[in-house]
Amino acid sequence: MTQPAAATPTGTVTVRVPAKVNVQLSVGGLRPDGFHGLANVFLAVGLYDSVSATRAEEPRLTVSGPDAALVPQDRTNLAARAAELLAERHGLAPDVHLHIAKDIPVAGGMAGGSADAAGALLACDRLWGLNTPREELLALCAELGSDVPFSFAGGAALGEGRGEVLTPLEVGGAFHWVFAVADGGLSTPDVYRECDRLRADDDVPEPVASEALLAALRAGDAQALAGALRNDLQPAALSLRPSLAETLNTGLAAGALAALVSGSGPTCAFLAADADSAARTAHTLTASGTCRAARATTSPAPGATVV
Ligand code: C5P
Repeated sequence: MTQPAAATPTGTVTVRVPAKVNVQLSVGGLRPDGFHGLANVFLAVGLYDSVSATRAEEPRLTVSGPDAALVPQDRTNLAARAAELLAERHGLAPDVHLHIAKDIPVAGGMAGGSADAAGALLACDRLWGLNTPREELLALCAELGSDVPFSFAGGAALGEGRGEVLTPLEVGGAFHWVFAVADGGLSTPDVYRECDRLRADDDVPEPVASEALLAALRAGDAQALAGALRNDLQPAALSLRPSLAETLNTGLAAGALAALVSGSGPTCAFLAADADSAARTAHTLTASGTCRAARATTSPAPGATVV
């Protein structure tokens, strides 16, 4: 039986959570549980959603931001499921008003939904005065989705298993990125399915993290990282959205060191040599009409943080 949360701090708790880019996404074969084994090198980037939790009479979820209309504002939102899961584990009623101030591209391959779930979990934990240990919160994150633990942790990490088994990675300096946001999202399951279809006749090797890529991250070496970027979902994203090839080529022609689809797409990521080059690439992409918007930012970024 659920009960109202015990006397806890009043007011609102707001948590800021970052987007991610996968600098390596190596996809293994389809597992019996419907997921793929991964070697997934995550890097948190400086685009953020904010999730605020306020006591309420009943569960409520609202979203603001230019793409708010594209985000489910009911129990199907992963942030609402995060609040329900935490409440259930503690025998509480999930009576909270969650507000998501959305800046991360929606369904863009940048883990915006996962970020909101990680943010909601931390915000509710603090609002309800639970102070759940970090390891337990990470375990709840993994129940919510493969990318949620990394959204919580931030920084840089290797994700193995289905992406949820994290090993933190060292990063030796800031990297400069541009993200080209597409019109309309891509469904992650559809992209994985297309990846399986395209590779149906191939022997798919066991995914392993690239030593060259990990060394480039450790050294903070953008040139070396550019040569080591890899996303096995990119051919599938391009197959489902062929126009992304033009976006990738436009950013490269503008001087980016490398271009790749971010996660399952359709957001395209461009690694730049420095802040000036990133600003120029963003400007060219915006003017080109090959994307809806282009945003310059840096990595790594911190994980879920109470503000
Ligand atoms: O874990 P999450 O709910 O984010 O995964 C969404 C979908 O993406 C899964 O249902 C599955 O189709 C696909 N996926 C996968 N292998 C992974 C992660 C996700 O096939 N390692």
